[in-house]
Amino acid sequence: MTPKKTADQAAPRAAELRAQLEDANYRYYVLDDPTLADADYDRLLRELEALEAAHPELASADSPTQRVGSTPAGTFAEVVHAVPMLSLGNAFTDEEVVDFVRKIVERLDVASPQFSVEPKLDGLAISLRYEGGRFVQGATRGDGATGEDVTLNLRTVKAIPMKLRGSGWPPALEVRGEVYMPLAAFKAYNEKALKEGGKVLANPRNGAAGSLRQLDPRITAQRPLAFYAYAVGVVEGYELPATHSATLKQLRDWGFPVSGESDVVAGSDGLLGYYRQMGDKRDGLPFDIDGVVYKLDDYAGQREMGFVSRAPRWAIAHKFPAQEQSTVLEGIDIQIGRTGAATPVARLRPVQVAGVVVTNATLHNADQIARLDVRIGDTVIVRRAGDVIPEVVRVVPEYRAPDAPEWRMPAQCPVCGSEIVREEGEAAWRCSGELSCPAQRKEAIRHFASRRAMDIEGLGDRYIEDLSDLGYLQSVADLYKLTLEDLLEMKRRADERDGTTPETVKAGKVATKWADNLLEAIDHSRKTTLERFLFALGIQHVGENTSKGLATWFGDLQLVRGLPWPLFKRVTDIGGESARAIGHFFDQPGNQQVIDALLERGVHIADSHAPSAKLREGLNLATLLVDMEIPKVTKIRADQLATAFADAETLRDAPEHAYITAGLPADSAQALASWLSVEENAQLLGRVGDALKRLDALTPASSASSAGPLDGKTAVLTGTLTALTRDEAKARLEALGAKVAGSVSKKTSFVVAGTEAGSKLDKAQELGVEVWDEAQLLTYLAEHE
Ligand code: IVH
Repeated sequence: MTPKKTADQAAPRAAELRAQLEDANYRYYVLDDPTLADADYDRLLRELEALEAAHPELASADSPTQRVGSTPAGTFAEVVHAVPMLSLGNAFTDEEVVDFVRKIVERLDVASPQFSVEPKLDGLAISLRYEGGRFVQGATRGDGATGEDVTLNLRTVKAIPMKLRGSGWPPALEVRGEVYMPLAAFKAYNEKALKEGGKVLANPRNGAAGSLRQLDPRITAQRPLAFYAYAVGVVEGYELPATHSATLKQLRDWGFPVSGESDVVAGSDGLLGYYRQMGDKRDGLPFDIDGVVYKLDDYAGQREMGFVSRAPRWAIAHKFPAQEQSTVLEGIDIQIGRTGAATPVARLRPVQVAGVVVTNATLHNADQIARLDVRIGDTVIVRRAGDVIPEVVRVVPEYRAPDAPEWRMPAQCPVCGSEIVREEGEAAWRCSGELSCPAQRKEAIRHFASRRAMDIEGLGDRYIEDLSDLGYLQSVADLYKLTLEDLLEMKRRADERDGTTPETVKAGKVATKWADNLLEAIDHSRKTTLERFLFALGIQHVGENTSKGLATWFGDLQLVRGLPWPLFKRVTDIGGESARAIGHFFDQPGNQQVIDALLERGVHIADSHAPSAKLREGLNLATLLVDMEIPKVTKIRADQLATAFADAETLRDAPEHAYITAGLPADSAQALASWLSVEENAQLLGRVGDALKRLDALTPASSASSAGPLDGKTAVLTGTLTALTRDEAKARLEALGAKVAGSVSKKTSFVVAGTEAGSKLDKAQELGVEVWDEAQLLTYLAEHE
């Protein structure tokens, strides 16, 4: 054992670790220039924790290890602010700003006073007290005169220094600033809360305020809070610099984060210029700001200006238009997106938000509506930030009508009337109309014509828009019946509609070259490959790889378009979700009609071929039963069923006890019977059986080679088999090349033991011969026959 270090030996290392960790915090939060990787920070922190645990006398309240939060205090004590924490007057217009400057100019008799200008973050104001360079107390603003002692919570905020850097600090110093939650942290926090079913934070401001008012500092420690300093309170035994901006610089040197957006400007032009500059930057900042703050930079001037009630005459907050407003939700419309996603959109009583009239806002999806519990007629808070689509962020429940019903996704697509469906485990609802839904049509056509699909050169977005809007394209199939007259007429109508002078007329003759070219490109695309064609259909989850897989394995469009979904799982890399999507696509009569029309209008797949040998390898009733995802029908059970029943139809029509006779345990048999009692499932099994027969006919088994996998092996059967008779078992083993013997010897390769196996099984165990149960036999047969 290595001798334990004494506290004296450990102390220098602990001090070194603390210095390194504090330095890392400083670089990260103040200089915005991190040099230590997260993992290294954690490693150093753990080392320090271990040292402090081994030598409790080394631990101190301002150690970086204490940032994880100490035990709850119970309540917050009151803190009286020796220097009151003031508030600011607000300016909303340029005139108010000009007025603010004019008063200063007049009173101080300076032509163009200098101002320290800073962003105004929306968080919680706090005051931090340092004695001898150490953080001793932190308090909220409260009513400005008295706040709450939140020292323990503030210790967890890594951006707040526990010890000041450098030297020569005042013996007592109060630093004021804002604790806030950066937007990324806010989003991450809410995403996690949603996933874990926790409570979400309404906005970053509430996030910061709520976190600081947690009675348990360990909770605060988990909230990603930040801080920046913007003022000083009590300063004892120290002469501050003559200006606010110089003080901010000094604070930064002592280790406080100071906003990098701060600046010094002169006169009202300087202020308004800064306001616009920050307004432009606002949406790109990593935190919410609700305005900017102007402070007369010169302290002597500040003193001379003095205060009105509780606000200084030397400073003002110039506010940005609010990003959140309340209004009434008048309705919820369903918008059908490019892939059929049905997105609920809030129809709002028009309201000005951040300078723009908002009438619609996104509600994201049905889950979000349920989460917010938004109901039609509700008063809602709408938020708009920059170019981002306005969103409904919450409901004001106090204003809800008592009888307002919960909102539900409509059953039908408002555009085409097809069913709106939702796949299990997916957030989005979709219109199932696919190619027959006009809202999805344009995007479908765009995809269909794209380079990697049918590759129709020259069919740009504008033509797609116009051809669809003017009724020339109901589906992708209509591309193949367009005539020169159609195209020219379309162009003429589009020009009329847009009030543009047709180029054709300008040129004094009918320019038809573009139309000729487009028709030629369309014609050229008629001859295609199965892979491209399947990709072009735009089936959900079917990208180029999946199309290629389908084309290679099945080889023929007529085959593929008629298969039930479990068959698609045979293709390598196609899972249940994609297989269901493909099956669903082909099950829609509208989609089948489009395919028929395409073929009728001359689309021709040039590379059709017979199904691949690979498909044949894994194709049998047992694998398909597993592919169908029937509850409790595992591979072993599927093998038993496939052995016991001649085909899917017989299996489907058999009574439940026949499944038990086939070897299934009672619960699997029951699960299967109840699954089959659903008409849709019974039909699916029927279709799978038919498909299997069709494919069997198309892909004759490769002529059995004489060398079976059990060549040279000797098997012995004993006990009672349930799924097959002994003779069957013997015949099938022999077909694979095995010799089936009557007694066990050292030469026996394996023994198949059914129920009530007797002396032969004992003998096998004695000799160490491999023993299979019936299930293993069935699996083996299924895999090798
Ligand atoms: S100075 C006497 N500077 O705005 C000056 N305040 O209504 C006192 N705030 O409670 C405040 N950013 O929470 C100042 N750069 C900044 C600020 C700022 C945000 C908040 C602060 C204060 C409120 C003033």
